[in-house]
Amino acid sequence: MNLLVTGGAGFIGSHVVKHLVAKYPEYNIINLDLLTYAGNLENIGSIKDKENYSFVKADIRDLKEMRKLFADHKIDGVIHLAAESHVDRSISDPLVFITTNVIGTATLLQVAKEQWKDNYDNKLFYHVSTDEVYGTLGDEGFFYEDTAYDPRSPYSASKASSDHLVRAFHHTYGLPVVLSNCSNNYGPYQFPEKLIPLFINNIVHKKALPVYGQGINVRDWLYVKDHARAIDTIFHKGKKGETYNIGGHNEWKNIDLIKLLIKLTDQKLGRAAGSSDELITYVKDRAGHDLRYAIDATKIKDELDWEPSLQFEEGLSLTIDWYLENKDWLDSVTSGEYQKYYQKHYG
Ligand code: NAD
Ligand code: DAU
Repeated sequence: MNLLVTGGAGFIGSHVVKHLVAKYPEYNIINLDLLTYAGNLENIGSIKDKENYSFVKADIRDLKEMRKLFADHKIDGVIHLAAESHVDRSISDPLVFITTNVIGTATLLQVAKEQWKDNYDNKLFYHVSTDEVYGTLGDEGFFYEDTAYDPRSPYSASKASSDHLVRAFHHTYGLPVVLSNCSNNYGPYQFPEKLIPLFINNIVHKKALPVYGQGINVRDWLYVKDHARAIDTIFHKGKKGETYNIGGHNEWKNIDLIKLLIKLTDQKLGRAAGSSDELITYVKDRAGHDLRYAIDATKIKDELDWEPSLQFEEGLSLTIDWYLENKDWLDSVTSGEYQKYYQKHYG
């Protein structure tokens, strides 16, 4: 198996690649990543010399380059994670989300179709997507695999477009595909523009914690290594043409999660209980901020026997420990460009 993983220097992709390299020594795992601001070779430093692993810096939008890469490496399988992934950036700069998430995915699909056209046996294109394509929920209900799409940010609209293209290539050309839509991930190596690592970093530095709106939005959190295990399971056991929802059945209102994060981080830093509460700062809400996401993950549990392995408090504690122990990583990714983004976004 020559397996191409795209976006493997990013947050989730780096966990997926490390998981696969350790578990499948007989595979050749090719990690393709453009190394944008969100991609970081330090995330995958531990596997760089493994025999079953190689890294290619390239752009998924580059048709010529993708054709060459598929041919040179005789790619049999793709796990496609490369994307622009941050909702706030999609609001301030939507076009790169369209080119990367839509054109980039279409480019990979086209190349897979061309290169596999003579024989689709033992080939698979796995597209990793998000629960945000389903839109937003009120106080009740869940997202199911057949929930109608209703994306509401440029990010989720671009991911929804890419999902449609993947299904279109399956229905029109018979391309063997599988998809998954996952809820919010957290864990080590997440770029600190997303809620949990951003807030841990700000608590450490006693900086304001910018809570959007009233902090009443709800997200369903899953530990990233559980997502990596789910991706492995779906790639190997999922039914072609099917979609699987992945989630933790772990809903948290933002402000409750933030208070827990403050409590645990203060404890670990040896600070008095409640000493960082004053950092909470309510700021202008995100434009079009989706109220609530919640995944029903019954299908993947019943059909593929996957379930989250970690309780949230345990996962959150491990995550805080990791950021506190990896200050150099945090300092290096928050220098330079990050400061400009931070200043522009939060003022
Ligand atoms: P991330 O932003 O941390 O990583 C994305 C990676 O893609 C980076 O390494 C980046 O360099 C690479 N990339 C960007 N543009 C590229 C291009 N044109 N060519 C090649 N590589 C490029 O994102 P993440 O949080 O790890 O998310 C990975 C995937 O999972 C995305 O498709 C995202 O939509 C999906 N997802 C994320 C979450 C979450 O909570 N983070 C939840 C569900 C689904
Ligand atoms: O649901 C899956 C999605 O989860 C993924 O597809 C996305 O790639 C990923 O970024 C994530 O999107 P969210 O917008 O939910 O994640 P984020 O960490 O940006 O925000 C989580 C919640 O916290 C959301 O309600 C907005 C809020 N928030 C976020 C930031 C960065 C704040 O209140 N303040 C902040 O500064």
